[in-house]
Amino acid sequence: MIRVGLVGCGRISEKHFEVYENFKDRIKLVSVCDIVLEKAKKVSERFSVPYYKNLGDMISKESMDLLAICTPSGLHPIQGIMAAQKKINVLTEKPMAVNLKDADKLISECRKNRVKLFVVKQNRLNPTVQLLKRAIEKNRFEKIYFINSTVFWNRPQEYYDQAKWRGTWKYDGGAFLNQASHYVDLMVWLGGEVKEVVSITARLARKIEAEDSGGAVIRYRNGALGVLQVTMLTYPRNYEGSITVIGEKGTVKIGGTALNRIEKWEFEKYDDDDALIEKVNYVPKNVYGEGHFAYYDNVLNSLEKDGSPLTDGDEGRKSLELIMAIYEASKKGKKISLKKK
Ligand SMILES: NC(=O)c1ccc[n+]([C@@H]2O[C@H](COP(=O)([O-])OP(=O)(O)OC[C@H]3O[C@@H](n4cnc5c(N)ncnc54)[C@H](O)[C@@H]3O)[C@@H](O)[C@H]2O)c1
Repeated sequence: MIRVGLVGCGRISEKHFEVYENFKDRIKLVSVCDIVLEKAKKVSERFSVPYYKNLGDMISKESMDLLAICTPSGLHPIQGIMAAQKKINVLTEKPMAVNLKDADKLISECRKNRVKLFVVKQNRLNPTVQLLKRAIEKNRFEKIYFINSTVFWNRPQEYYDQAKWRGTWKYDGGAFLNQASHYVDLMVWLGGEVKEVVSITARLARKIEAEDSGGAVIRYRNGALGVLQVTMLTYPRNYEGSITVIGEKGTVKIGGTALNRIEKWEFEKYDDDDALIEKVNYVPKNVYGEGHFAYYDNVLNSLEKDGSPLTDGDEGRKSLELIMAIYEASKKGKKISLKKK
């Protein structure tokens, strides 16, 4: 039985609590923490566990195998480092940090203390995305020429006003680093290493520090091109969250509002996976999807059987590196090259 403590009882924490309720025989919530004590207390009553206002107190007094971090993004590294230094494995919500320096500190501190680091990237586990990944691995596209990702969502001003950290550079970032970060992750996971990027980002309407919209063009190291187009200003609601892959022998688009529907699936050669495309479509209950269950399954397997994490620190860092390059390219108005791995 894996014992987990959770810090940050806000919106996304509910996805984690649902997992704990459904995987009762494998994971047990042992304590919770939130600086807003009322929020922690509510969870404490639901799970009959102690609650804390201060993370340092919680990890000193309670014993646990894993800390789940669901606080504002800018706090993930420092809280993860606190846990690592107490030899507690770390699971952090995405993004793992709001800059590479802090992400690297977290990765190295976890390594130094020999604890595992998991970065939540549940969208990789969407059945639709898994089918596309398999098609790429089977080389069904042959040469991939172009990958596009479109995130035309709506986040009204009230969303940003819900909490002070939203849209700030110190704790959140903008549309690329928060809302579209899963899509950036998929661009890298599906397309491979990125060589260079140009971009324009802008704050067109929302009263926040960071961007609400932007476009980036990337060149992969293998020569393929990619485009990311992102806005949180789509009237009147979320319209599209998609990835399109165009190759020599195939074209696939996974769309819907959040990668939930295969809209185009055409290859030169038949494969048994072609019969699955209707089956993997689903209707998302909310914007977060159901991927946290599958994600935790991997986390638990990794802790129970010493297996490797699906997305560890190095994997989580890849999309952060591209997002930072997108920001730098826009700020400097020039093409930014990424380091060769
Ligand atoms: N995986 C996903 O698809 C997904 C979806 C949404 C959000 N997220 C990520 O989850 C994180 C939280 O987002 P949210 O929407 O739940 O935010 P939120 O504002 O609803 O919740 C954050 C919680 O952290 C608490 N908190 C802040 N500082 C704290 C501290 N120092 N110690 C303890 N508690 C503290 C706040 O009081 C709040 O309850 C962000 O990093 C976000 O990017 C991931």
